[in-house]
Amino acid sequence: MKKLLGVLMLMLACTGVQAAEGGYHLEKAPDRLNDLAALQNGAKLFVNYCLNCHSASSMRYNRLRDIGLTDEQIKDNLLFTGGKVGDMMTVAMDAKEAKEWFGAAPPDLSVIARAKSVNAGPSGADYLYTYLRTFYRDETRPTGWNNLVFPNVGMPHVLWELQGPRELTMVAMHKGGQGWERVTTTYDVNGVATVKHEPVAGYHGHETVETRFTPKDPARAAAYDNDVADLVAFMSWMAEPVKQQRVRLGVWVLIFLAFFTVIAWRLNAVYWKDVK
Ligand code: HEC
Repeated sequence: MKKLLGVLMLMLACTGVQAAEGGYHLEKAPDRLNDLAALQNGAKLFVNYCLNCHSASSMRYNRLRDIGLTDEQIKDNLLFTGGKVGDMMTVAMDAKEAKEWFGAAPPDLSVIARAKSVNAGPSGADYLYTYLRTFYRDETRPTGWNNLVFPNVGMPHVLWELQGPRELTMVAMHKGGQGWERVTTTYDVNGVATVKHEPVAGYHGHETVETRFTPKDPARAAAYDNDVADLVAFMSWMAEPVKQQRVRLGVWVLIFLAFFTVIAWRLNAVYWKDVK
């Protein structure tokens, strides 16, 4: 028993460290797994903007029937490769070539929402939701883009037209040779960085970094957030299409167990009544 407890404690300790290392704070993705219109919009965005580079090779187009699309709709709106609705979502791009272009191969996205989830921490959906909304222009990067949750990412911000231009301001409290200073870095809409150092007297905290995006077109940026929420819902559904069903089943199992506990308890009382 003690040994088991030790192992459990160790496991807990490990997840704690992992969470602490996680850097940028992840934002909560809206839960739209039961919203067919959102899932359909997500599928449309996914096929239009992501399949050029990524594959989703355990996903067949005709599985999109499960989110309320007909074969006709799939063929007319989502199949650009001239393939059949029974085809897998594979990609024409060569993995080796992609690696040369971007410095890293685009991973298969079939189960990325699951792959990115940490057991005790935030969900993979939260990761994707934050990742897709923290791209910023950075002229020093080969693609012209950088990302807050994935620094120096090889992927360009492929949805930038939907989001519109934004400026990024990072304010860091930093302890240098001369003592504490506030370092403000601003990336303008073209990715040109301006850095300002200000000494701060009497600061007794620790090193912190705060980031703030300023969209030039707030309405467009808000519509983008909404689209990304749909896209992430679709990717979560794709990673685990039977999740909803499993959750429903789980509820029934718990109800059954609760019910059965009462029966077992009563039965136990009845059996022992005569023995005593
Ligand atoms: C122009 C090609 C290209 C397109 C289009 C593209 N990606 Fe990527 N993506 C990449 C590359 C390259 C990487 C690998 C980046 C790296 O490891 O540095 C990547 C990585 C990723 C990752 C993994 C990030 C991580 O933390 O490991 C996710 C998630 C992702 N892309 C999602 C998407 C989504 C969603 C879309 C559609 C909106 C999309 N990508 C469109 C090239 C692309």
